[in-house]
Amino acid sequence: MTKKLFIKTYGCQMNVYDSKRMADVLKPHGYTLSETPDEANLVVLNTCHIREKAAEKVYSEIGRLRQIKDAKAEGGEDMYIAVAGCVAQAEGPEMMRRAPAIDLVLGPQTYHRLPDMLKSAEEQRRSGRRSSRVLDTEFPVETKFDHLPQDSDYEGPAAFLTVQEGCDKFCTFCVVPYTRGAEYSRPVQDIIDEAKLLIQKGVLEITLLGQNVNAYHGDLENGKTASLGELIKRLADLDGLERIRYTTSHPRDMDAELIAAHRDIPECMPYLHLPVQSGSDKILDAMNRKHTAERYFEIIDELRTGRPDIALSSDFIVGFPGETDEDFEATMELVRRVNYAQAYSFKYSPRPGTPASVLETQVEEHVKSERLTALQALLGEQQIAFNKTSVGKTMDVLLERIGKEEGQLVGRSPYLQAVHVDVTNTVQDHSTDNIASNMMNKLAKVEIVEAGPRSLKGVLAEQ
Ligand code: 5AD
Ligand code: SF4
Repeated sequence: MTKKLFIKTYGCQMNVYDSKRMADVLKPHGYTLSETPDEANLVVLNTCHIREKAAEKVYSEIGRLRQIKDAKAEGGEDMYIAVAGCVAQAEGPEMMRRAPAIDLVLGPQTYHRLPDMLKSAEEQRRSGRRSSRVLDTEFPVETKFDHLPQDSDYEGPAAFLTVQEGCDKFCTFCVVPYTRGAEYSRPVQDIIDEAKLLIQKGVLEITLLGQNVNAYHGDLENGKTASLGELIKRLADLDGLERIRYTTSHPRDMDAELIAAHRDIPECMPYLHLPVQSGSDKILDAMNRKHTAERYFEIIDELRTGRPDIALSSDFIVGFPGETDEDFEATMELVRRVNYAQAYSFKYSPRPGTPASVLETQVEEHVKSERLTALQALLGEQQIAFNKTSVGKTMDVLLERIGKEEGQLVGRSPYLQAVHVDVTNTVQDHSTDNIASNMMNKLAKVEIVEAGPRSLKGVLAEQ
């Protein structure tokens, strides 16, 4: 019997990858994906704990789901609710107490256990127990990557591939070392095998994922380990793989081999998300970032020497405890000096259990808001300016989906900009649909004709 699975994903790309893998492990058990929770037999909330209100959002979603679950129960139909991901890891037992509608709780390391956990919950329900509650801690700990199905339903030309998980850096604001655990790198051969599978399915671009992806040090057959730069080199050698990206990196782990990969390997895209968080050395130290602003500038200079067109992105936190106007100005100065293509910025949010959350020098909310507004205005200007430099250029765009307008396809530039491509200019016989479907999932040469704050517009160039 086929059953329906609905997965709602919060947070980072690693959760997107994990959600896909959860669908993979459930597929042999008869589950197919549904677009809404209404007809689902199993709903998975894959949660994120990085900033405030994440847990609250999950509780209100569960409130909505409970109504669907109760209505189904009245009609004699079963529905199970699973909470997965980082909130589950951090607050699992507490969540079960607070929200009785939850059936299953599983952290990011145990999603391959979903079928067993589900079976156990079903047995409990069938035996007439009032609740059917299963926690992943009831199952043995093992490496989830060793338990993935060999097949997956990939769609589109771009895919994520998790190569590394966890973090040992312990930035004082961050929950990741507690929710995702210690750093772990998958062996090189496993990654190559998964990449080959993706390429067979038509994938042209792979984004390597890890909380600290450039700390990657995966085992090789000869007993040595490979760095991320080495891994990228090996992946670039695979026939059919056109583009390689990776995220998220830490300045401390930006080694010479990786910087050289940007210079020497054409498949390594000219785009780097390298969070700096702050431009003040005092704050960087209090954050336990283990680098200075000057070291960050050096890395950027080295990258730009090898690959002058590299587009840079970062994360910023404003209002970290103890941040003065002067510290904040140092962040603004860093942004002016680096000149970003795009960036994410956040108000500091005290996370329970992290060292910074108990500091007495918390910054007032209105100050955080003012600083965020100023920073985002500057970053926004830089993003538009960067996009404008694209106008008139011809670049390779990986066409990933059909656009809203007729004869329009949407893809990504090498610099990760979204590009809306009008394909009608090349059509003589008005069969735009044909052209569009022929171009989909491919790399096309596109001339950029217009730049907006968040995306570009282009037309097909001579191929
Ligand atoms: N408050 C605000 N932002 C945070 N981030 C991580 N933890 C916090 C926090 N407690 C941001 C950092 C990180 C990004 C993923 O989320 O900028 O790089
Ligand atoms: Fe969190 Fe810092 Fe690790 Fe990034 S490097 S995951 S911010 S602790």
